[in-house]
Amino acid sequence: MTSPILVTGGTGTLGGHVVPLLREAGHEVRVLTRHPRPAADGVEYVAGDLLKGEGVDAAVAGVATVLHLAGGPKGDDEATRTLVGAASRAGVRHLVYISVVGADRVPLAWMRTKRDAERAVAGSGIGWTTLRAAQFHDLALALVEKTTRLPVLPAPRGLRLQPVDSAEVAARLTELALGAPAGPVPDLTGPRVYDLVALARPYLDLRGRRRPVLPVPLPGAAGRAYRAGANLTLQGAQVGHRTWEEFLEERLGAARAAAA
Ligand SMILES: NC(=O)c1ccc[n+]([C@@H]2O[C@H](COP(=O)([O-])OP(=O)(O)OC[C@H]3O[C@@H](n4cnc5c(N)ncnc54)[C@H](OP(=O)(O)O)[C@@H]3O)[C@@H](O)[C@H]2O)c1
Repeated sequence: MTSPILVTGGTGTLGGHVVPLLREAGHEVRVLTRHPRPAADGVEYVAGDLLKGEGVDAAVAGVATVLHLAGGPKGDDEATRTLVGAASRAGVRHLVYISVVGADRVPLAWMRTKRDAERAVAGSGIGWTTLRAAQFHDLALALVEKTTRLPVLPAPRGLRLQPVDSAEVAARLTELALGAPAGPVPDLTGPRVYDLVALARPYLDLRGRRRPVLPVPLPGAAGRAYRAGANLTLQGAQVGHRTWEEFLEERLGAARAAAA
């Protein structure tokens, strides 16, 4: 019998795409979650909390490959160190980590936690693979929904995004997890670069709304980094196919159909 693949963050946006792909490839899957549920369709849910250090040893027991997708607004460095320690003790052979484009270039506390998590993975002594992805379309949608609720559209000067489809990131991670440890692999970005106005425009069009644009400054060192494009990979990236417009059309179209 082969060992299950452990997926941390298997209940999240990205994990929700990865887990079925691993199942389709014929693998048993174990998901570490703070909110366990009964096993179903070849997926076992193990109770655990990476920040509290609870349930992690049980989650990695008997596992050869770990896909570490769990993440939150704070503490990804600490959570990753906890996972790495447990995985190392359990004899895990391949640790696959999802990070973010610009983790070592944008001076923001959250980015630093991703950078430090990358370092924990690379220094673990376990075979590892780290993929940096651009912002997911899902996150861009949450951002656009929030900002377009305001009477004016705040547009931070110089901020650009390269949103990528989370399903395409999931497919790449699945491929990486089923292969040999590869170390740092090329970044995965979306096919186009948008400023905030370009990102909001198709959303507003589909909603039949208009908003005046209010340019706002991006202050500080992080602002300088964003204006310099430190969160983008314009050369050497693997580029996803599904555009922001295609994602929006499908997502908002589905919402319209459900409401009709
Ligand atoms: N969103 C983006 O644009 C983007 C871009 C690049 C990279 N990433 C990275 O991709 C990963 C997944 O992102 P996502 O958008 O899919 O996240 P998400 O939808 O917010 O899901 C977060 C996941 O992390 C798990 N989690 C959070 N805190 C945990 C803890 N203390 N212990 C155990 N599990 C915990 C949650 O599991 P339970 O709630 O079930 O416990 C959930 O499955 C993250 O590492 C993120 O940094 C995201």
